[in-house]
Amino acid sequence: MRAIVFFVDSHAKESITVFDTTLRDGEQTPGISFKFEQKLEIARQLSDIGVHTIEAGFPASSSAELDMVKAIASLGLDAKICGLARSKKEDVDACLSAGVDMVHVFIPTSDVQRTHTINKSREEVLTITSDIISYVREHCDLCMFSAMDATRTDWDYLIRVFQTAAEAGATIINVPDTVGVITPSAMKLLITRIGREVECPIDVHCHNDFGLAVANTISAVEAGASQVQVTVNGLGERAGNADLAQTVMVIESIYGSSTGIRKERLVETSRLVTRCGGFAIPPTQPVVGENAFSHESGIHSHGVIACSATFEPGIMTPEMVGHRRRLTLGKHVGRHAVRQMLVDVHLEPSDKELDAIVEKVKTVSSRGKRVTDADLYEIAESAMGISTNDKVIELLDLAIMTGNHAIPTASIRAIVHGTEHVFSATGNGPVDAALKAILGVIPSPVQLKEFNIEAISGGSDALGHVTIAVEDQHGHVFDASASSDDIVLASAEAMINALNLLNRVEKIG
Ligand code: KIV
Ligand code: ZN
Repeated sequence: MRAIVFFVDSHAKESITVFDTTLRDGEQTPGISFKFEQKLEIARQLSDIGVHTIEAGFPASSSAELDMVKAIASLGLDAKICGLARSKKEDVDACLSAGVDMVHVFIPTSDVQRTHTINKSREEVLTITSDIISYVREHCDLCMFSAMDATRTDWDYLIRVFQTAAEAGATIINVPDTVGVITPSAMKLLITRIGREVECPIDVHCHNDFGLAVANTISAVEAGASQVQVTVNGLGERAGNADLAQTVMVIESIYGSSTGIRKERLVETSRLVTRCGGFAIPPTQPVVGENAFSHESGIHSHGVIACSATFEPGIMTPEMVGHRRRLTLGKHVGRHAVRQMLVDVHLEPSDKELDAIVEKVKTVSSRGKRVTDADLYEIAESAMGISTNDKVIELLDLAIMTGNHAIPTASIRAIVHGTEHVFSATGNGPVDAALKAILGVIPSPVQLKEFNIEAISGGSDALGHVTIAVEDQHGHVFDASASSDDIVLASAEAMINALNLLNRVEKIG
């Protein structure tokens, strides 16, 4: 369904392939280094969601990187595995010894990079390009060629470079906007010209220095590029690369072309990479961010309750990308949203009670305090003069062992549905161990979605305020908080409060 046209003069192909470079350019994000097992997990995920080619790394850079690429190449994934190589035989040999399906060779072509990084003349670069591609093609069926800093290269010369690459046997040519300076309109001109003058499929690799990576990638697609290079969560050098989820959703939902990506797994993929990289994305990140389908203002929430397309794109829904729609509580909240959130947990206030509840929520949040679901129910129960005491889990004891030579371990004793349970778990730290131990006594799968801790006062005895959100297997999400001068206890209490809220819509276990 595409009733309104959001673009003009598009030559987008019906299907576009996705080349993911999270494990290569993405790992060049300052501060990110994935562990061996994590890279295997990410590679499997990328292949499972339908990524066409995975750039697994730069094998010549170290023996560890070579082993890594080898391990990914031997997983037998559906995705093709690519290794990066400078235009040197030893780099290509390293890729070949890793057993990749595709070798990606690059050489700087802009005057600034050519003179200051490899110190070669324009003619020398043409010769190296031709020789290295011929060498790759003697040993490998697939060769991608990148003219590094293509967008700052003299375009007449760039066309000669790409023609040379195509004649030498490159199976796809890549146009990198290495320092993220091109604009969408210029990208469209450049790709159109390359498409006319070079006989080879075109791929595009955009950096986000000015926040234009996705827009520039889409312009390349509009001009007929066959493949897009992306990273999960937009990771990459400096400000990163074009984001996988955003690029795929624009191509599919706005342009109506297909990418073969299982879009309903985009959020899951983003979270996997966030967890592995320890690198949080902002809540406002398009498509996969926590707020991507959250509504706070009264007007928006009211509209969305009536018809979600009122204040969402409509051509992209939370279900399509594996997300969820959420009405949130804040000082702009309206009566409809509050009533809906209460009805969802079987609380049905009268109009007068609802007015009092909304007023209280607005007062609390205008003081700068986050109003969690637990706070809302407490406010509602007090306004309605009721008290529900249907706690599914009650903590009896929590013991923690930690130290510089011990694996943090937590043991808990808790009553769950009237029966006493004892459980122990280890974790990365005492809080992690405590939360895992609590989740261990809940029979149904419940996932921690959010953990946030603030120090309420200064000093080492500061009161810690912990807010936790949990999600059950049906996608119900609830948040709750607790404060204590012991952050492990505050975390445990917040978790138990959140689990007890889940029980309002579904009995756990
Ligand atoms: O940004 C860039 O130019 C690159 C190349 C290696 C393609 O990452
Ligand atoms: Zn790059």
